[in-house]
Amino acid sequence: MGLGMSLGAAAQKPHDRLNAWLAADMDAVNLMIRTRMASEHAPRIPEVTAHLIDAGGKRLRPMLTLAAARLCGYDGPFHIHLAATVEFIHTATLLHDDVVDQSERRRGRSTANLLWDNKSSVLVGDYLFSRSFQLMVETGNLRVLDILANASATIAEGEVLQLTAAQDIATTEATYLQVVRGKTAALFSAATEVGGVIAGVAEEQVRALYTYGDALGIAFQIVDDLLDYEGSDTSIGKNTGDDFRERKLTLPVIKALAVATPEERAFWVRVIEKGQQAEGDLEAAKAIMARQGAMRDARDVALDWAAKARAALAVFPSHPLRTMLEDLADYVVARIN
Ligand code: IPE
Ligand code: IPE
Ligand code: MG
Ligand code: MG
Repeated sequence: MGLGMSLGAAAQKPHDRLNAWLAADMDAVNLMIRTRMASEHAPRIPEVTAHLIDAGGKRLRPMLTLAAARLCGYDGPFHIHLAATVEFIHTATLLHDDVVDQSERRRGRSTANLLWDNKSSVLVGDYLFSRSFQLMVETGNLRVLDILANASATIAEGEVLQLTAAQDIATTEATYLQVVRGKTAALFSAATEVGGVIAGVAEEQVRALYTYGDALGIAFQIVDDLLDYEGSDTSIGKNTGDDFRERKLTLPVIKALAVATPEERAFWVRVIEKGQQAEGDLEAAKAIMARQGAMRDARDVALDWAAKARAALAVFPSHPLRTMLEDLADYVVARIN
């Protein structure tokens, strides 16, 4: 393990504290990612994977796996494989997601679909998915295979459900929750759960790790959806306004629709349902959502999920990693990137 609690650690972001505590493990994960993302047979693969992986990203999900395993006292080698697996699954879904969302910016760079093409993104995404399965098989643990295989299927279901819910202004908060649970929280909960499973802790603790990851992932995605309207392109490393352009029914839009005046409703029908968007409509949408308190209401929902995540860890004895994970739950709602 790394530096542990250094001086002034309490003032640092929980993400940075986790990174410092888990520095040696994270180095091993990054090395494993680097060696496994290559391919001797198709040069396009390392080109695309290096473009995305060298850009960094927060590495939040592998950190969750490492933190969960270490919190559970794990001392073997396989948390590294599992953390790399989780980041590969994440990277594969990002490649596919940017094709589906026709996004042009990711991690502060042009997307692979823009720089190369959709075909390369889809196929290299498939390659990374397959590599992730090879990595997890090396653990020889059938239960973690089960968890991560289920998570992969659930992510795809979430993305497809979102596809059919987009442009439908009758989409409910329940459907939205189902989408984010699938497309995002499924990987967060699998990331934390496998950390506990590989460590062989009691079922109560494994369940707590699952609940923590699930609630953290939901809070994280709600905030990602807020940042798509109110973030800055430079801080999030992506273009804002993508969700509006793609006519997605994210939580702030659903909240605003629930209390819309007849004129506002007509606006949402035009821009989201009919897709007739003109210059200035994104600004108008933001103004409506701000006036209605829709952004604040959506943030409050994220805060509730963060509190649920924090509470789930109460079954663990006091430990610096437990505190960092608890603080991370608050941080994902306060974050700006
Ligand atoms: C992006 O996840 C996809 C979502 C679930 C919103 P991150 O924001 O964790 O992406 P990176 O890995 O840091 O780029
Ligand atoms: C994130 O979906 C979930 C997956 C990548 C599976 P989004 O489309 O909301 O995330 P960003 O904003 O592109 O990162
Ligand atoms: Mg997207
Ligand atoms: Mg998407």
